[in-house]
Amino acid sequence: MQASDVKKVSVLGAGLMGSGIAQVCSQAGISVIMRDIKDEFLEKGMKGIKDGLGKVVSKGKMTQEDANEIIGRIETTTDLAKAASEADLIIEAIPEDMKLKKEVYKEVSQNASENTIIASNTSTLSINDMAASVKNPQNFLGLHFFNPAPVMKLLEVVKGKKTSDDVVQFGRDFATRVGKTPVVCIDSPGFIANRVALPIMIEAVTALEEGVASKEDIDTAMELGYNHPMGPLKLADLVGIDTVLHSIKSVGDKIKSPKWKAPKLLEEMVKEGKLGRKTGRGFYEYPPK
Ligand code: CAA
Ligand code: NAD
Repeated sequence: MQASDVKKVSVLGAGLMGSGIAQVCSQAGISVIMRDIKDEFLEKGMKGIKDGLGKVVSKGKMTQEDANEIIGRIETTTDLAKAASEADLIIEAIPEDMKLKKEVYKEVSQNASENTIIASNTSTLSINDMAASVKNPQNFLGLHFFNPAPVMKLLEVVKGKKTSDDVVQFGRDFATRVGKTPVVCIDSPGFIANRVALPIMIEAVTALEEGVASKEDIDTAMELGYNHPMGPLKLADLVGIDTVLHSIKSVGDKIKSPKWKAPKLLEEMVKEGKLGRKTGRGFYEYPPK
């Protein structure tokens, strides 16, 4: 299948990433089915999309009619069989839990057609491990969007051992079709961007733990000293402290370098439910919208 042939995309998961990916695909004119396990999660995901587009409309960069069309192309469902059977491309964006992802892939494989391309948006889990749970591993790859998906331009296309060259090319072309710039890598811990960026977060949290500077000054140092759009602690809050912790552990387990040790503070924050923006508290506080 060519990327230009994709008429419908199913996005599994309506969370932070799933809702953003659904918006990106719909904005490119593709029909979308967004699937989550409960209606309330689907409603929250749709609200995020509407609020995000609302901001763009209020800046005068999109008409309300165009925003309505984008919203109108996104159908929601809790029915996995429907989401799997109707799509040309399935993009999985459910929580970063290998066991859960494998269970979902088994069910997806039972309902998807032979030619359906299946992609994971995983941050750090192995594409090869996940490919073992799908019927056609040659049609399976990583399509790693960045947060916030409607804004970030990068799409990492991850080639598993069994991913066919045609499917890698499909990934590149699909990225371009939805307005992203692809980079291609093999299945390796942290792929490209997280492997390079997570150590910055580890050092930022460790510097905070050691009392080197305040959280504000650590963030300001990287914003003004390195021109990062947001400092590493603010970014950890945006990504989700649980996701950051999981990603550090997942890459660290495979890279086996003492540099990749998860700071204690992150463990404590997760235990206390300080997960960042999504729970209203992380390194910083976020008033409810
Ligand atoms: N839909 C469409 N456009 C949107 C949007 C939405 N939901 N939300 C914002 N935008 C647009 C805005 O309209 C604005 O466009 P203009 O510049 O044309 O006006 C632009 O995006 C920037 O938005 P804002 O002005 O609201 O916000 P900002 O300038 O403060 O930028 C930010 C916010 C984009 C998040 C910026 O701070 C940033 O780039 N931060 C770093 C993000 C980052 O590093 N992400 C990677 C995380 S790691 C990851 O994702 C990988 C992983 O596996 C964990
Ligand atoms: P999230 O917790 O915001 O959303 C996950 C959603 O999946 C939730 O709404 C949950 O109800 C839903 N879900 C759970 N089980 C499901 C199932 N069986 N079928 C469908 N939906 C199900 O998580 P997120 O931050 O959007 O992360 C999703 C994936 O994207 C993870 O693999 C993560 O590593 C990756 N990712 C995250 C970021 C980030 O910055 N948060 C960036 C890039 C990639």
